[in-house]
Amino acid sequence: MCGIVAVTGYKKALPLLLNGLEKLEYRGYDSAGIAVIEPETKNIICNKAEGKLRNLINNLNDKNISGTVGIGHTRWATHGKPEVKNAHPHTDSSGNIAVVQNGIIENFQDLKNKLEIEGVIFNSDTDTEVIPHLIQRELNTLSKLKLENNGSTLLVAVRNVISDLEGSYALAVLWSGAPTSLVVARRQAPLIIGLGEGEFMCASDTPAIANFTNIILPLEDEEIALLTPLGIEIYDSNNERQYRNPVSLKVSEQIIDKMNFKHFMLKEIYDQPGTAKNWLENYLIKNSENGQYQINYSFDTKFFESIERIDIIACGTSKHAAMVGSFLLEQFSGIPTNVFYASEFRYSPPPLLPNTLTIGVTQSGETADTIAAIDMEIKRRSSSVDKTFKPNLIAITNRKESSIGRQVPNIIDICAGIEVGVAATKTFFAQLLSFYGLAIKFAQIKGSQSPDEIGKLITELIKLPPLLEDLLEKHNQSSEKLAHDFFNIKDVIFLGRGINYPIALEGALKLKEISYIHAAGYPAGEMKHGPIALLDKKVPVISIASPGEVFDKVISNAQEAKARDSYLIGIAPECNGTEIFDYLMKIPSSNEWVSPLLNIVPLQLLSYHIAAHRGLDVDQPRNLAKSVTVE
Ligand code: AGP
Repeated sequence: MCGIVAVTGYKKALPLLLNGLEKLEYRGYDSAGIAVIEPETKNIICNKAEGKLRNLINNLNDKNISGTVGIGHTRWATHGKPEVKNAHPHTDSSGNIAVVQNGIIENFQDLKNKLEIEGVIFNSDTDTEVIPHLIQRELNTLSKLKLENNGSTLLVAVRNVISDLEGSYALAVLWSGAPTSLVVARRQAPLIIGLGEGEFMCASDTPAIANFTNIILPLEDEEIALLTPLGIEIYDSNNERQYRNPVSLKVSEQIIDKMNFKHFMLKEIYDQPGTAKNWLENYLIKNSENGQYQINYSFDTKFFESIERIDIIACGTSKHAAMVGSFLLEQFSGIPTNVFYASEFRYSPPPLLPNTLTIGVTQSGETADTIAAIDMEIKRRSSSVDKTFKPNLIAITNRKESSIGRQVPNIIDICAGIEVGVAATKTFFAQLLSFYGLAIKFAQIKGSQSPDEIGKLITELIKLPPLLEDLLEKHNQSSEKLAHDFFNIKDVIFLGRGINYPIALEGALKLKEISYIHAAGYPAGEMKHGPIALLDKKVPVISIASPGEVFDKVISNAQEAKARDSYLIGIAPECNGTEIFDYLMKIPSSNEWVSPLLNIVPLQLLSYHIAAHRGLDVDQPRNLAKSVTVE
């Protein structure tokens, strides 16, 4: 997490830095800060504020900052509380070097101890502060070698320092000794260079620079670059100069607009019919000869034939999408499938089994645990001599240019467009659709379902866009009303079974992350094994009851909750059995397989309205960040 932005050129740096930070605030909003080189004195002017970017902007209101070279940072606190002293940029003791960093320096304590023995005084509790001090020490050494004060010297100093750093980072460094230069570097954290008019810039993500350029150069892992107003030099970890062609940003990568919605989250919930349309257009192709539909994933799917089992690795909401995916892949396509928390998988992976497909699911493509787990899996499978153990990988992501996009050869781009709200909504929906595509593909290849059954599922998917529009229209107001009655509750239980159990988990996660109300999701049949003890009239139960295999069971489980005085909210079509609900959020009747794609919508709306009613910062909930690039 954390977002960094930096610029050097002939134009004032501050507007770009602040605009970039605004676009990066989704990555963290515990504090914000900038450092700019003062043109006359060549001194570094640093300004930082605790909390949201607007506090920094208020600080800067009466200041005339005209420098053209600068760096900026928006923080999600890892080491040290969200206080001004821990806000970036961090400087060395002389104040001549300033650094912004996104990542975690795992060996910072060792480095800090050594620097303290040498007499360095630290002003923050962060891991990052070791970097400017180490660069200062390196520059002192280089000056004894009579190296000139210029960008190339800064590049050497930063390169030497990062070779001692353990962990992951993206960083940008300013030095008053080379006042038009910037050095940037990355290891397992994103960084993109932008080529503007009269300026070069870099940032953690494309929207941060999209108002200033649409020509970018993604920095590869372990690369370091020197940016000056005259150009860019990029070097790999062997110090070999790298040359590559810039690429253009797609329009969708540039637009971040709330339209007329009060919050991005609500807009993104409303984007979902469009997400469904996009997916159908992009990935469903009708064979003109036999009239059958095919899933149009761009990679060669021959390897699917040998796959005997699937492991899926993900975190948070992506894991809930993976759980629906796992249900489909097992029950529809007949392939044994396991889902793992990435953070658990990386330290306790299952024993290696042959002919396994590993799927990484991450909307941001940057989640540190997911990236590390996939990396570990690639390494341990590649080192096996037995060919049946070799890695077969797919990544499901919304950012194909991200770390996972570079790590994994076979990408399913969920094409949801940029999601700004920290709570994932439309990307969850698009991840679900990607799994429907995979399940159909496997069912076709393995013959686990008749063409007729596959056709029925596809027909249900094609019907989605108008159903979703209808759902939004019906439930936006009703969930606002419901939120009015429930905004003060303390606990909520979500129940679901089968393919809708992960939807219960996702409903609970949405509610807790944006409204700070305690919520838990359970497989409905498990409630009587413990959670039922929580129930009384103060604990509402939201029960997902889609007609199909387990409908009667879910209704019985809801009945058990009602008998304990819980207020019962049903997410179900109006049909026999649903009269037991105190309040029914009506869902159009559908095939059980596609029911998660409909059931999730009212749950998203309800969470949104409860959080909005509580007056909370829906798009940027406390303590969270959109991409979790630390372990
Ligand atoms: C979603 O609402 C959450 N903010 C969070 O659980 C998220 O899904 C998780 O951090 C994984 O993110 P990813 O999809 O970018 O890997």
